[in-house]
Amino acid sequence: MKLMQFAGAVIAFALFAGAQAQQPIVIKFSHVVTDDTPKGKGAIKFKELAEAKTKGRVKLEIYPNSQLYKDREELEALQLGAVQMLAPSVSKFGPLGVRQFEVYDLPYIFPNQQALDRVIDGPIGKGLFKLLEPKGIVGLAYWSNGFKEFSSNKPMKKLDDFKGMKIRIQSSKVLEGEIKALGAIPQVMAFSEVYTALQQGVVDGEENSISNKYTQKMHEVQKHITLSDHGVIMYAVIVNKKFWEGLPADIRKSLDEAMAEASRYERSIAQKENDDALEKIKKAKTTQVYVLPPTEKAVWRKAMLPLYREYEGVVGKDTLQAIEKTVSQSSKKK
Ligand code: LMR
Repeated sequence: MKLMQFAGAVIAFALFAGAQAQQPIVIKFSHVVTDDTPKGKGAIKFKELAEAKTKGRVKLEIYPNSQLYKDREELEALQLGAVQMLAPSVSKFGPLGVRQFEVYDLPYIFPNQQALDRVIDGPIGKGLFKLLEPKGIVGLAYWSNGFKEFSSNKPMKKLDDFKGMKIRIQSSKVLEGEIKALGAIPQVMAFSEVYTALQQGVVDGEENSISNKYTQKMHEVQKHITLSDHGVIMYAVIVNKKFWEGLPADIRKSLDEAMAEASRYERSIAQKENDDALEKIKKAKTTQVYVLPPTEKAVWRKAMLPLYREYEGVVGKDTLQAIEKTVSQSSKKK
């Protein structure tokens, strides 16, 4: 009888272990924008590819629009392993103690998307990812959301127009310096709080990609947009290091392939998503859209140029010089 019981227990355990083994590995992917954005669509594409390439051994749960965590919280949640994957803006790594990523925030440092792509796809981009590893984070890819534009309830056509304006920014020291260099007052705020803060006049304006402005309905509470292209919204797709290194090698390989494909897709749709959003804002007739002329753009750029030297200690002199060199090479190539 004892033998039968033992055999039964062994079979039951084997069945349980088998069932456990068949349980998919769950990846919680949290982010702060809507599904209808370059990042939102990139995450959905990654889910499709990751689940297909691992034949269902991985299940991706996407939590968009700050459903699970707001800006700062999501990085803490990743480090704790409460979520496995994020794609925050690179302007938000300062609170983690990795301010070197703010080199991407220097105004007008990237004259166009090609120059930016050369930097993020090369040794500079990879080198910056290495700085995340001591924080328990692995950088998998860079995603893009185009160039930043200013919006406000007051026109922004001249530098003087910024005097005393309260402008919402992401948690970046370089962006703080940028807004002060324009004569305005910077206010750090989580992305999910921006719409209400604009609506209630807590802040007068903000800087962001057009896709983010449109999908967060900011145009409904902003009378003016100035197309200044003064900076970029860029993302680092990151994963909890312990989780990533604990994955079976074949799964990690499939996820790497899925991420590479999803990244190509995300970066290929970013510009069109922003162009389409601008058309929708124009159609909505809620906001006056002003294209900053090159002459005035040069004035703004000159006013913000001292930031490069002012923050080279924060972002890393070598990294800054390497980016400036790569950017000048890419403009020569054109
Ligand atoms: C912001 O906070 O303005 C953006 O970084 C949000 C995002 O993830 O695009």
